[in-house]
Amino acid sequence: MKKILIDCDPGIDDALALALAHGSPELEVVGVTTVSGNVALAHTTDNALRLCDYYGMDVPVARGAGRPLVRAPRAAGHVHGATGLGDVVLPAAKSELSTQHAVDFIIDTLAAAPGEISLTAIGPLTNIALALRKEPRIAEWARQFVIMGGSYTRGNTTPAAEFNIHSDPEAAAVAFGAPWRTVMIGLDLTHQARATAAVRERFGDLGRLGSELVTPCLDFYGQHISYRDEGPAIHDACAIAYVIDPGLFETVPARVDVETQGRFTAGMTVTDFRAPAEEHNAEVATTLDVQRFWSLVADAFRAVARG
Ligand code: BDR
Ligand code: CA
Repeated sequence: MKKILIDCDPGIDDALALALAHGSPELEVVGVTTVSGNVALAHTTDNALRLCDYYGMDVPVARGAGRPLVRAPRAAGHVHGATGLGDVVLPAAKSELSTQHAVDFIIDTLAAAPGEISLTAIGPLTNIALALRKEPRIAEWARQFVIMGGSYTRGNTTPAAEFNIHSDPEAAAVAFGAPWRTVMIGLDLTHQARATAAVRERFGDLGRLGSELVTPCLDFYGQHISYRDEGPAIHDACAIAYVIDPGLFETVPARVDVETQGRFTAGMTVTDFRAPAEEHNAEVATTLDVQRFWSLVADAFRAVARG
């Protein structure tokens, strides 16, 4: 089993990513940390706790940063709903939050198992940057660092920037500047993972997981203007899928720098595929095996539904 620590801001696609991680026979989720992003920290944290209980995940959940390093928070309630899970209201969580701050939880968890845990961030990179500043050795201790964020062509929040990077560009710059090779699962990749009508037919036998969570979440998410034609892109699940099976992805080494100054381009992940090898700091995902991705997701959701 591969160990994974998930830093997230649930968030509809974060919720589906957690289900994929929990339902995968390949993964052991060692913890979930929360950050302000799609909605305010109080909601992302409450959602993470409720989701873990609902899925039957017995893992620590630790609350992290309530705002980006420098900038004001910018939520995406218009995409994910006022509380982050569309219209879905899950039962209140019985589990308690970890008493540790997410930053300390990340540091201590990675320190306890050097080389074993994939650190996977599917929200703004605020907690990751703070953890790197407090304990730079996490860059050695993480088995790999995988993010959903960025793009090498276009943005979804501005023409230049993807939401997670745009939300906290300074934190993203710290994360890309650390001495690990960030695996960037950006929009160019995740826009290949569309929950089309044909894909959704494959989720027909999920019982209550389907009727209470997956279907209403996808219905809500799919209403967003950018998703109406081709179905919503399930961005965050792609980062989890990479940890499960990197063979589903083509990646290309590159130099990625985060724009923190630009008036129109803040949060852009400036990606240089022609940079010399010694300057490479990222593996950038370009192509997804779409059929095998959805098989992985459908199998995992069925495993969660069976309990
Ligand atoms: C990313 O932004 C958020 O809205 C999603 O949860 C995902 O992590 C996509 O740009
Ligand atoms: Ca997210």
